[in-house]
Amino acid sequence: MSKNSGVNRIEGGATGIKPAGQQADDDGKNDLMNTKITITGGKPLQGKITVSSAKNAVLPILIGSLLAEGQSTIIDVPRLADVDTTCSLLQHLGCTVWWENRNIVVQTGNPVTPEAPDEFVRRMRASFLIIGPLVARYGRARIALPGGCAIGSRPVNLHLKGLEALGASVRLDHGTVDVWCDRLRGARVYLDFPSVGATEQLMMAATLASGQTIIENVAEEPEIVDLANYLNSMGARIKGAGTPVIKVEGTDSLRGATYAPIPDRIEAGSYMAAAAVCGGDLTMDNVIADHLKPVIAKLKETGAEVTELENSIRVQATGRLKAVDVKTLPYPGFPTDMQAQMMALLAVTQGTGVVTETVFENRFMHVEELKRMGARIKVESRTAIIEGVPKLAGAPVKATDLRAGAALIIAALAAEQATEISCVHHIDRGYDNIVGKLQGVGAAISRSVAE
Ligand code: EPZ
Repeated sequence: MSKNSGVNRIEGGATGIKPAGQQADDDGKNDLMNTKITITGGKPLQGKITVSSAKNAVLPILIGSLLAEGQSTIIDVPRLADVDTTCSLLQHLGCTVWWENRNIVVQTGNPVTPEAPDEFVRRMRASFLIIGPLVARYGRARIALPGGCAIGSRPVNLHLKGLEALGASVRLDHGTVDVWCDRLRGARVYLDFPSVGATEQLMMAATLASGQTIIENVAEEPEIVDLANYLNSMGARIKGAGTPVIKVEGTDSLRGATYAPIPDRIEAGSYMAAAAVCGGDLTMDNVIADHLKPVIAKLKETGAEVTELENSIRVQATGRLKAVDVKTLPYPGFPTDMQAQMMALLAVTQGTGVVTETVFENRFMHVEELKRMGARIKVESRTAIIEGVPKLAGAPVKATDLRAGAALIIAALAAEQATEISCVHHIDRGYDNIVGKLQGVGAAISRSVAE
């Protein structure tokens, strides 16, 4: 991106796409794969961290801008690899996309090629969400099926079944899915599981369908409500977001809008767990406490002091906290995206904690890495039993996915000696300046490129 007077045009297009988060340096060497985060633990965190806007709201909102004629401005967008990828994807589809200071502007007036190269989905499965908007507005979409990933097989059957219920034709051909329909028509859809992505996909598709769509057993996450609010600000007619049933009255067209997404409850929760694990007094600014009820309740149960303020949350902890049990569930239950971070905390609490992961079938990739640091964890199917130890020991470890990476940073903050974390590109997908934010509250953390 070239910088001039705060307007940074995003270089992109079918040939110019840079793998997100992999900044090619002058000689084209990809530094990111050699980048490491080093942490020397044992220091309490003191001070304030400002939480960024929610990655899992910003990504579907940016993709939802495809539904509207004209220009949308998304306010105060975090600098994340997944945001870069989404901007490149929109650019590839024919949109003009640029940064204006910390805002992103999307102009969708140009002709759109409703197809995305496989690499987008391989790099970011949320790319799959372009289908609903493209079919609703342009009558067709073509994109690779997202494969599995570190946390599970992650099928998309509920997306495709819902789109067919809305009248679309779906063809699977060698790992690519083609979806087409002259005009989607409203229907009644029941989701076998309250899938976040399927809810977003179908809600977006339904906004331009003819007639009413009722989607039942939907995801109720705050990010769903945020997407619905953005779509309604563009002229959509969505009711019930945040409840088990969403009703959409289809309309003929939407127009671009300016929208400020909600704060990132998972980023906030990650820093809350960090403050609990290494003690101290940390305030997270720009937080909606209501979105973090299960995390607040669990941290209080460990003995940490959690205070909800107007627009922030304060966590104070001294000494060793108590082990607790955690079971992940769809919202408003305990978020699966905070499971790894809680496990890092439980690794050093007094007693034995049990973590049950009910949302994904394989979200324990961080266990082996935590054990390299001396954690005592036993996994039986979807349950992990964590016997707390007084101290972890620094070690070279690898981030296997986004939240596992955050968990390793949290564990390292509590460990003696230094921990070196590789594969930091996973962390860059979802945490805006995590090294800088933690340095600002006293953590001994740095980022370097290995020779
Ligand atoms: C979203 O992923 C989030 N990603 C994930 O956050 C989050 O973990 C997940 O929701 C659950 O809260 C974004 O919002 C970009 P799902 P998504 O569809 O939509 C099954 C992070 O760390 N399922 O709710 O892919 C699926 O296999 C990321 O920020 C089907 O069976 O999640 C899984 O077991 C990781 N068929 C469960 O539902 C389908 O068609 C939940 O998946 C779709 C999903």
